[in-house]
Amino acid sequence: MPRKYHLTVVGAGYVGLATAIGLASRGHSIDLVEVRNDRLGALQAGQLPIHEPGMDAAFANPEIRGRIRPGALIPDEPSDAVLICVGTPMDENGRSDLRQLQGALEAARPHIRAGVPLVIRSTLPAGSSESIVRWSGGDSSRLFTNPEFLAQGRALEDFLAPSRVVIGTFPGPDAQALSVVEDLLGSDTCPVMVVSVIEADLIKNGSNAYLALKLSYANELAVLCEELGADVITVIDGIGLDPRLGRGYMRPSFGFGGSCLPKDLRSITNVGRDLGLEMHVTSAASDANDAHQRRFARRIVAALESGKGRVAMLGLAFKAGTDDVRSSPSLRVAELLLGRGIEVVGYDPHAGMNAAAALPGLRVVATAAEALQGSSVAVIGTEWPEFRQLDWRALGPTMASQVVIDGRRLLDGPAMTALGFSYAAVGAAGVPQINRTKQSARP
Ligand code: UDX
Repeated sequence: MPRKYHLTVVGAGYVGLATAIGLASRGHSIDLVEVRNDRLGALQAGQLPIHEPGMDAAFANPEIRGRIRPGALIPDEPSDAVLICVGTPMDENGRSDLRQLQGALEAARPHIRAGVPLVIRSTLPAGSSESIVRWSGGDSSRLFTNPEFLAQGRALEDFLAPSRVVIGTFPGPDAQALSVVEDLLGSDTCPVMVVSVIEADLIKNGSNAYLALKLSYANELAVLCEELGADVITVIDGIGLDPRLGRGYMRPSFGFGGSCLPKDLRSITNVGRDLGLEMHVTSAASDANDAHQRRFARRIVAALESGKGRVAMLGLAFKAGTDDVRSSPSLRVAELLLGRGIEVVGYDPHAGMNAAAALPGLRVVATAAEALQGSSVAVIGTEWPEFRQLDWRALGPTMASQVVIDGRRLLDGPAMTALGFSYAAVGAAGVPQINRTKQSARP
């Protein structure tokens, strides 16, 4: 019978919740520490403070929920391991802000008994290990990292069935503490790598930066296709037939977002530049992502008659399946439009409240129909499947003009055209009735 542990998980955001719920579903009991009152209040009331499809159902299971005890402080009772899952967001200079991590490590220090492993699951910029050791009390032998590879919308699934487990060790790891970490977080179904902490950081940063490169490339091909009158989906399908390249993670759009990809791309660039390296590739991908979002905003402006009219932004989350709006491309585009004095009405099935808080000036409404009514252009900003199911035939006539710009290649273009819409899409061949005059002014 596998051993059941009593654990402390610090941080009840997307990573902390997936970690706590995943471990509780394996029978471990968890003290879940969260400093934000809104999140803690929701958890204590038996609700998840975020939208995560698989996690909602797991947390609704009384047995799993019963093993999770939410609280504001790290309890004094002994734990078999402490897992730190706080955020390391990007600051205004494109570097990871480690203040939450410092706070969590310093708070955990007095509560950790000798030999108990302290595992950092928060994403670290490569090369931050000295500060981490200092903040955690100086003893690196029981300190480990375990970078998470959880994609939001399927975070619990990724936690329970990972593609790999990476455990980062500091110099002189304690064998007993390491065996607890391997027992707790290891896996029989995928490779488990025990590596140096720098290698672990680079595996994490490097994976996300590589994903971001792939998307930047797909999105650049999309732009090329728009100009040449080709269809990027066909082009990517053809490229993907080469088994060395593959088709995965190449869905084109007008930019990628979220809390990880843009941050890790900039983080790895800055880490390299601090070492005197130029980091041409990762730096170009960040610039390209910014340019793709600006170009998309210009395309929307060009579709408005004399640059005037209201835009309905359907989808505000950074991708479907989450309520997270961090570095959301649709919010960025909405911000650029608002900056040009264009009215934007947003709708999202789950991220409306977060979007309204993140972008003052954006009017967020409760239904897609409300957003579309009176708008001159409808933009598909997030690939929520429900936008496919909308009764476009009935909704079209409520718009000021029936123009749809699909930033996610979600809708059936010919079907939309047959319904009388002027339909344009990212990376699409031919954009019949939309004014495609190039605008030199940046929005
Ligand atoms: C990512 C990684 O996938 C995960 O392994 C990591 O550890 C955390 O960061 P996440 O940010 O949740 O996960 O989302 P992901 O599904 O990777 O999407 C990131 C961005 O890329 C989104 O804006 C998404 O819309 C976009 N994307 C993704 C595309 O535009 N096309 C694709 O084919 C895939």
